[in-house]
This record gives sequence, C-alpha cells and structure tokens, in this order.
Amino acid sequence: MAQAGSVLERNGLGATARRDAWWLQPLLVFLGLTAFGVYAIWAAWQGNDYLYHAQGAYYLSPFYSPDLHVLFGIQPPFSFAFLILWIPLGFRATCYYYRKAYYRSYFLDPPACAVGEPKGRCYRGEKAFPFILQNIHRYFFYLATLLLLSLWYDAVRSFFFRDPAGQLHFGVGVGSLVLLFNVLTLSAFTLGCNSLRHLVGGRLDCFSCSAATRTRYKLWSGVSLLNLKHAPWAWISLFAVGFADLYVRLCAMGVWHDVRIF
Ligand code: FES
Repeated sequence: MAQAGSVLERNGLGATARRDAWWLQPLLVFLGLTAFGVYAIWAAWQGNDYLYHAQGAYYLSPFYSPDLHVLFGIQPPFSFAFLILWIPLGFRATCYYYRKAYYRSYFLDPPACAVGEPKGRCYRGEKAFPFILQNIHRYFFYLATLLLLSLWYDAVRSFFFRDPAGQLHFGVGVGSLVLLFNVLTLSAFTLGCNSLRHLVGGRLDCFSCSAATRTRYKLWSGVSLLNLKHAPWAWISLFAVGFADLYVRLCAMGVWHDVRIF
C-alpha cells in the first residue's frame, strides 16, 4: 500500500495500483442518481396525474403524499410536490451512505478506495462550511419519519375500494401491492438510519443495567441489523418510490390498467 500511496500522490486523479473495474460502481451510482433526480423533478413538476381513483381505487403517488391540497387546501402556484420533496431529498442527501456514494461519483473525491483524487484535495472531514451542514441529518430523519407515516396511511388506504354505493371494501389491486412494497422498502431504509441507531442506543455506558437499557439494546440491535444493509435498502427504496409514482401516474393517465387481484 505504501507503493500505491506514493503513486496516488504523484499522479493525482485516477492514479491507482488497482487492476479491477473500480470505476464501474461510481459510474453506476452517477447514472442511477442522475436518472432518478431527473425523473423526480419531472414528475413533481407535472402537478397532475398523481392520484388514481377510478374503479373504486385510491392510489396516491408517494411524491405527492401527504395530499396537501385535500388535507389543508394548500394550492400554491406551483406543484405542491415541491413542498414535500425537499424532505426526502434532504434526508437522502445527508445520509451517511449517500454521502460516500455521491462524493465518489459526482466529486471524484476520491473516486474509489485506493484511487487518486484531483490534485490539491485531501480529506479534511466535514468540519467546515458547507459540509458541516451534513450534521442536519438527524432533523431530516424526524421529518422523513413523519412522511413515512403518511405513506403507511396511503398504502393501507390503497387496500380499500369504494363500491358504486360509496361503501369501502377490502381488496387488493396491483397498485396496492406496489404502494405496500414502496413503504416497506422505505421503512427498511429509514429505520436503518445511523441517527436512529444513536437515538435508541447512544449516550449509554451500560446496556444491561436496567430493563429500560436492555430494551434499548434490543431496539439498537434491530436498527443495527437493518443498518448492515443500508446501502442496498437505499437503492431498492429509491427504485420502489420512483416506480410507485410511475405506476400511479400511468394508471391515472390511462396508459396502464390496474388489475384487481381480489
Ligand atoms: S444514515 Fe442513511 S438515512 Fe440516516
């Protein structure tokens, strides 16, 4: 490694003794995040087709949840999705996993382990502006948890269909499963957050000293279990939330037809 280190210092960006395809992961991350970002902005910009309520169904796109227009009568001169989406955006942008991912793929700082970064740069931590703002993550966690509750409501609501007389009945449509899958994956991502790990298990010297601390240990173990797969959950939930919007949108536009399974 001493040899690799000297090569890195001398040659700058991309210098490495690695022989594997180290560039593939940052490239895929760049493409994945960019594609999702472009789609999310486009979908939020539309301001319509976010609700499918034909055939008794009630599917709300996660990009537009909670429905600020129906709940609070909020009708800004732009799509109200923008009043919501800054929360998941801030939550993901300050997430410890995503930080590593986009520092590497967007800023090449460094592009991968044991690969040289642009000359003149070195790691200084996140102690100065603007990176010190990343510490706001725990507050985004609180807000994202509130949104998660709203998405759970939407997922449960999607299992109830209105008959021609206006009565609600339990049922299962493909859209119900799409919205359920979305909220399950988002829960696995959110509940594996490092801020939650600290919240339930931090600032303790002894886990076994009382019933309360033993309970906290169990909670901390559960969060840690999800945290082990935080990166996969980050990607699965990102795909799931984008697909859930697309599904609702295309059903609302009449391009796709929701199938009632039950
Ligand atoms: S560390 Fe990733 S969501 Fe909190």
